[in-house]
Amino acid sequence: MALSGTDLAKQLAGYKSVDDHVTSGMVVGLGTGSTAYFAVERVGQKLASGELKDIICIPTSERTREQAESLKIPLCTLNEKSVLDVAIDGADAVDPNLALVKGGGGALLREKMVEVMAKKFVCIVDDSKLCKGLGPSFALPVEITPFCHMHTLRTIAALPEVAGCKAELRLGNVATGAKKDGDKPAVTDNGNYIVDLFFETPIKDVRAAAKALKNTVGVVDHGLFVDMTYQVIVAGKDGSCRVAG
Ligand code: 5RP
Repeated sequence: MALSGTDLAKQLAGYKSVDDHVTSGMVVGLGTGSTAYFAVERVGQKLASGELKDIICIPTSERTREQAESLKIPLCTLNEKSVLDVAIDGADAVDPNLALVKGGGGALLREKMVEVMAKKFVCIVDDSKLCKGLGPSFALPVEITPFCHMHTLRTIAALPEVAGCKAELRLGNVATGAKKDGDKPAVTDNGNYIVDLFFETPIKDVRAAAKALKNTVGVVDHGLFVDMTYQVIVAGKDGSCRVAG
């Protein structure tokens, strides 16, 4: 079925990332979300047609693992392969320095663990994800341990580096927010919870915020991906595609 609008843009970015960056013999990180979905689909297509051979992929979530398995994409984990040739993933917000907010789908920890080990981390987005400063356009997710989670939430909210944010525990389904499970905390693939930080104005110092969050006891990791992006492929609803970075 021919796609249109934002779905078309996501497909364009996803397909281009694989066409431009994935060749036979590579170890490839597979991201999570509705844009990464198309990159995984493209890898599956090219393996099936024989255009790609001998690649092995590392998924960043259980959802992506299931999609990749359904496409017969060979998989391993970081335990087997610590260095990746390329990792491809979406983002929730991209600033002019190519710093990202990720984790809208709740997969930020595995995404960061995989993508930080890639020689090239290629980010794929539709142009609605571009912003002048990280914060207001999409809440910043922070993965925390369930133990005394409200204490950790309050500790995060009090950090001067994220001053002014409103911290909320994510409830329901970790990826969709669907409340099938009532108002229970959303649980990540790693058994942790997510706190979303809502900002009305851009985060002043993204590196300082990243450091302060990471240094908070009880925080496992956060959705600020700074100095990690090799390239961002940006697609528009009109079928245009450009590269930043
Ligand atoms: C999941 C992520 C996703 O990459 C991010 O949420 C973007 O998703 P989508 O492509 O569906 O907009 O970080 O944890």
